[in-house]
Amino acid sequence: MEKRLHKFLSNKEKRIEILKLSGVKDVITNKITPTQKRDYLDEIYEKYKDCQRCILAEKRNNFVLGEGDADANIMFVGEGPGAQEDKTGRPFVGKAGKLFTKMLSAIDLSRQDVYITNIVKCRPPKNRDPRADEIKACLPFLYQQIKIIKPNLICALGKVAGNTLLEKQTSLSNLRNSIFTFQNTDLMVTYHPSALLYHPNWKRPAWEDLKKLRDKYL
Ligand code: URA
Repeated sequence: MEKRLHKFLSNKEKRIEILKLSGVKDVITNKITPTQKRDYLDEIYEKYKDCQRCILAEKRNNFVLGEGDADANIMFVGEGPGAQEDKTGRPFVGKAGKLFTKMLSAIDLSRQDVYITNIVKCRPPKNRDPRADEIKACLPFLYQQIKIIKPNLICALGKVAGNTLLEKQTSLSNLRNSIFTFQNTDLMVTYHPSALLYHPNWKRPAWEDLKKLRDKYL
């Protein structure tokens, strides 16, 4: 798009333009029903499950789009699938996922009440952090998911998810304890469940974050 024209577009129009340029077509702009939301998410899966946009496609077994309520108020965004997720095609089902599921139930939520996804949809080898080019290739899917689901809150799990969505490069402690805005949606950042497996003393502050989430959004 010409720079001259770009200047006159609203932020929303610019985002739509970026999605189109990234190759994600059928950008959704109007109000849609829960059933339509589910159908759109299924369509994205069917259309992109064999995605070859980055090197992660080479070794993956499954493109893990996400799961849960297509009309959820709260959307959780992790980093990327691990071994179990790659094997099953479902997000957060391994060791960290089991802890995450327990954390949800501590605030009376089940996995079916929320939507769960990741920044990248294919497993990075040896669970390394996703690289900038992989994130860039994959982000249009997450943007589409957010646009379809329209949650009231996005809860980023860990530094990678928080920094990616907020376009920052900072520590988790600088990201926690604030409500940010991402495309008109509230966004908070808390610990990644894997980090809690290695640092059980972080479970208490993670619980404080969850209570804030519960009190404001449930
Ligand atoms: N870690 C993540 O970030 N996402 C998953 O789906 C599983 C583990």
